[in-house]
Amino acid sequence: MKTSLSLLAVLTQLVASAPTSNTVSGAKESSSIAFPPLDYTPHKNGIPYTVLNSSIQPWERLVTHPGSKAVPRASEASCTGPVADPGQPYWYPQMTHNGMSSFSQYKTTYPIYRDVTASPYNADKTGSSDASGAIQNAINAGAPGGPTRTQNEMGTTGQDAVVYIPSGTYLLEDSLQLYVGTVLMGDPNDPPVLKASSNFPNDHIIYGKDPNQDGTVNFYITVKNIVIDSTNIAPANTIALLDWTVSQATQLTNVVFNMPDYSTGHTGLTNSYGYSSNTYMGDLTFNGGVVGMNLNTQQFAIKGVTFNGTTTGVQITGCTDCVFVDCTFANAATGIQASGDSGSLTVIDSTGINIGALVRGTTPSNGNNNVILENIVNPGITFATSSGTVLSGNVKDTWVLGGVYNSGSTSVSHYTSGTTLTTPRSSSLLASNGKYFTMPPPTYDEYPASQFINIKSVSGLPVYGDGQTNDAPNINAILAMYANCKIIYWPAGTYIVEETILIPSGTRIFGEAFATISALGSNFYNAAAPTTMVQIGNAGDVGTAQIQNLVLSVADVLQGCLLLQVNIAGSTPGAVGLWNVHFRIGGAAGSKVETNCDGTPDQCRAAWGLMDLAPTSSVYIEDMWGWTADHDLDGGNGQTIATGRGALIRATQGTWLVGTAMEHHTLYQYNFYGAQNVFTALQQSETPYWQGPGNDAAPAPWGSYLQAADPTFSNCASGDTLCTMAWFELLTNSKDLFLYGGGVWAFFNNGGGCSGTNCQENAIDIEGSSAVYLYGTNVHSITNMVRDGGKTVATESANAGGWGGCIGAFLYST
Ligand SMILES: *[C@@H]1O[C@H](CO)[C@@H](O)[C@H](O)[C@H]1NC(C)=O
Ligand SMILES: *[C@@H]1O[C@H](CO)[C@@H](O)[C@H](O)[C@H]1NC(C)=O
Repeated sequence: MKTSLSLLAVLTQLVASAPTSNTVSGAKESSSIAFPPLDYTPHKNGIPYTVLNSSIQPWERLVTHPGSKAVPRASEASCTGPVADPGQPYWYPQMTHNGMSSFSQYKTTYPIYRDVTASPYNADKTGSSDASGAIQNAINAGAPGGPTRTQNEMGTTGQDAVVYIPSGTYLLEDSLQLYVGTVLMGDPNDPPVLKASSNFPNDHIIYGKDPNQDGTVNFYITVKNIVIDSTNIAPANTIALLDWTVSQATQLTNVVFNMPDYSTGHTGLTNSYGYSSNTYMGDLTFNGGVVGMNLNTQQFAIKGVTFNGTTTGVQITGCTDCVFVDCTFANAATGIQASGDSGSLTVIDSTGINIGALVRGTTPSNGNNNVILENIVNPGITFATSSGTVLSGNVKDTWVLGGVYNSGSTSVSHYTSGTTLTTPRSSSLLASNGKYFTMPPPTYDEYPASQFINIKSVSGLPVYGDGQTNDAPNINAILAMYANCKIIYWPAGTYIVEETILIPSGTRIFGEAFATISALGSNFYNAAAPTTMVQIGNAGDVGTAQIQNLVLSVADVLQGCLLLQVNIAGSTPGAVGLWNVHFRIGGAAGSKVETNCDGTPDQCRAAWGLMDLAPTSSVYIEDMWGWTADHDLDGGNGQTIATGRGALIRATQGTWLVGTAMEHHTLYQYNFYGAQNVFTALQQSETPYWQGPGNDAAPAPWGSYLQAADPTFSNCASGDTLCTMAWFELLTNSKDLFLYGGGVWAFFNNGGGCSGTNCQENAIDIEGSSAVYLYGTNVHSITNMVRDGGKTVATESANAGGWGGCIGAFLYST
């Protein structure tokens, strides 16, 4: 912070001037709650892909390249590593950037990688002349002779681009505008500063949302390792640093927002250009400003964020399910102004330092405005409403304002002035400071370029990533050869695999621009005995396996494909981890699912399931979107897709799911089956839009292929087609589950509106489990929120509020 003002003096002044109604300057106290608009319709069209090369159809014909069969090579026996050498220049720009947009007519000439300081962009990194035009040119560039990225002609998935910004100061006299597929990425060793000029003309410095698309379909956008700076702009001028009206599969990490202290006009982050549906952001710092984040979104997990000298850290204009983990609010009038939070606000493992109040909200009625605070260090006012202080000081255990189902209770108790509950966390989930373990995505900036291998550049083992070659044998050979040796750099492109990819212990993978692994072929046909596409480690392995920035997909309708199985346990928490790894079934170029699933669900069992965390696994997962497509991102094909299963969690050794979403899978979104010791921060889900009265009744079209862990729907009366719909969450024979911020939304039946008031009967089922802690559970249009042993325990109507129903705490056999 660059100020000569005493923070304490400013703070004291702000708090002293605050009237007893807690209407602190800058903290807009909204009396009405912002509900999400339901403007979304099924069969939405995606972005036209006018430059698609439609003759690249891997499911019809693969190219056999010379040498595309693995040539066994002796491993590099002498290599142990990778070996760190901090202080070396950042490895990433030194790599050979040979990624591609695999299904484009311009696949050989479209540039994935753009260094803004290199020719032809030549951005000035000294801060002396305007760099905005040069950086924007780097963002916009298409292939020579092809459309630019501004033109909305490369679909959602055809225009991935890494816009790399070396260290330096970049003067911006105009805004930057991002588009879907953009990865705006700085050097993490010394993040570049994007500094707005004093006469800055627009209302935001960076617009993250692709203006050609609604916020709810702004997917696949990343901003990381940069500093955005508004300190040149007069403190009273209205300016926001980043508009982030974007949705799932976006990553905002390691970004600093520098604003003048308590500047009355500066806001760090907004979602102000329409509605959005978010999963995760984290490891951010907000210095100064009147508001750090002004959130108006459906849901969010927010981790590791510091607000310092910001009058109001977070202004919640709307959020039905917001979870804050490990955040720090320092020198502020208000940490979180939560009056606009309609469902549940969860704040855990967080700290207030010298603040007026950590959270300001409203007294909840029914299921509205539930607040969950846990493991909070704050010496002052911790929760206040307009009537005054409700809670002061530290919260050692769990404090819940709103609806609580105590263990064994079948009716809700409302605590309008809060109640304290006990949450004995599993020690295997904790860092040494007692907080739940979390970890930023590794940048590997401590390793020099010599410690990396480009998976497309290993001599004798060609890997193509061109969407038309079976790359599996050579990928497997390379991963086996370089385990416990090098870090794998995985360029953009689609890598077709006709057999299981085994990621051995000792592997670290850094993907680029949504590089995609996509299954194909008869190995993945057997719905009764699925084959895994990407298998991480073997049962009983303990070691390292870290993966980031990849998409896992299928190139054909593959009813016997399990996309990901984790078997290995981390040798330490986070040694096995996934960051910014997403699933996409259909809805995109390069897969027969996109063009062939406009019929009935039984014609499109497109994948057996997304993810299985096996009993011996222990993995940290952050920022994951498991999506069966409800529409075509790259065109207008109908998408009626019946993926069998979402996330199957059988893991017992310690599992962290920080910001995950599972949407539109047929049987369930999340299935905790014999699971133990699991922490989740936000689980967002939606039911398949095609399900419900008039279409296949679950378990159809999977009824002939059910396995022990699958629900049978035998609880449903014959013909009850609001019952035979996907479970949001199953908890069976599990224990020590700490699940914060669950949300499931149902909007449609059989691809159209729902008849009656609710679109679905059941959300959560618990059987034979113990020590289950559900904090902040939200539903939209689902009659029964929780069932226990075949009986309904909690209904939406008994917990009316939020976006339908919201329960502050549901304790089960605790
Ligand atoms: C807040 O900023 C002040 C001034 O730069 C600094 O001294 C202090 O350590 C910061 N506090 C936190 C919690 O980051
Ligand atoms: C499309 O891809 C095929 C197969 O790789 C190639 O032969 C052809 O030249 C491409 N066509 C265009 C217009 O890019």
